[in-house]
Amino acid sequence: MAKPILISGIQPTGRLHIGNYLGALKNFVELQNSGKYECYFFIADLHSLTENFSPQEKSKQILELAADYLATGLDPKKSVIFLQSQVAAHSELAWIFETLTSLGELKRMTQFKEKSEKEKERANAGLLTYPTLMAADILIYDAAFVPVGEDQLQHLELTRTLARKFNKRFGKTFVEPKPILTESPRIMSISDPKKKMAKSEPSGCLFLDDSPREIKAKISRAVTDSGLEIKLDPEKKAGISNLLRIYSSLIGHGIPMLEKKYHGKNYAEFKRDLAELVINHFADFRKDKKALMARPQTLVAVLKSGSNAATKIAEKKIHEVKKKIGIAF
Ligand code: TYM
Repeated sequence: MAKPILISGIQPTGRLHIGNYLGALKNFVELQNSGKYECYFFIADLHSLTENFSPQEKSKQILELAADYLATGLDPKKSVIFLQSQVAAHSELAWIFETLTSLGELKRMTQFKEKSEKEKERANAGLLTYPTLMAADILIYDAAFVPVGEDQLQHLELTRTLARKFNKRFGKTFVEPKPILTESPRIMSISDPKKKMAKSEPSGCLFLDDSPREIKAKISRAVTDSGLEIKLDPEKKAGISNLLRIYSSLIGHGIPMLEKKYHGKNYAEFKRDLAELVINHFADFRKDKKALMARPQTLVAVLKSGSNAATKIAEKKIHEVKKKIGIAF
């Protein structure tokens, strides 16, 4: 029997943080290696154009994200790894979806509200139509599963709505995809644990390629409450709870085990152990990423071959869609 299709993407907008890793990328690798899915992972470069960028910086960010993918364990022999902009059918389908989506549905999106509020008059139209492109990314491959962090659930809900709407109007064409969340779908900022860890606030991020010295310094400075106990209490102990989540996700054991281990110990000891854990966890990653970045041609070749493979699938689907809506013969 054919395996269910799974897809996800990340925007090339800078260095990945541990929220991207624990909410998404670590899971991509595990899902790929489970052998249960036909996997597609892409670099969402078109989405990333909605934010300020320079062409030079953009090329570097794309290669860097390709290196991140490979260095964390995504494998072009097991998954189709590709660059979104190289598969034109995504943009074609996004346009069709735009015509099926009301302005109200798009304006309600939390990410749009937050980003357009920040940018005010400078906010571009792409920020608004962003979710229709995301729906196209997913639906064009008939994906059944989409591993993402919690902040993408609203976009995924709209994707499901669009699939239903299209199917109802034009006949069964799309699969309604389901999200796959990790145990830590929302990692918080280490400098302000009431806020989500986000690339836009670098001071609150632990980056995957931070040096051991940076990791130590950042974790020792991580904001915690003035209490003494190391236990999960997201309301009263948001900082410690976030660090416990990071710790437990990295070792793959539940938080109760950690609460027991650190019973009677102080925050400094706990933070020291966590820093060591993070440093060791990403040691190979740092080395492998550096080696991959020294061979940009290899990265380009991986993306080219993946994009060719994805194009074959996506072309078929966009043709089917065009026929369904009466614009292809
Ligand atoms: P992006 O690039 O913002 O983030 C990549 C992934 O990281 C997750 N994530 C987090 N998870 C836990 N805690 C956090 N603090 C945290 N911050 C980010 C995100 O949820 C995401 O899974 N729109 C997407 C990219 C995209 C996409 C798609 C994803 C475009 N098309 C199709 C899936 C399917 C985005 O901006 O992710």
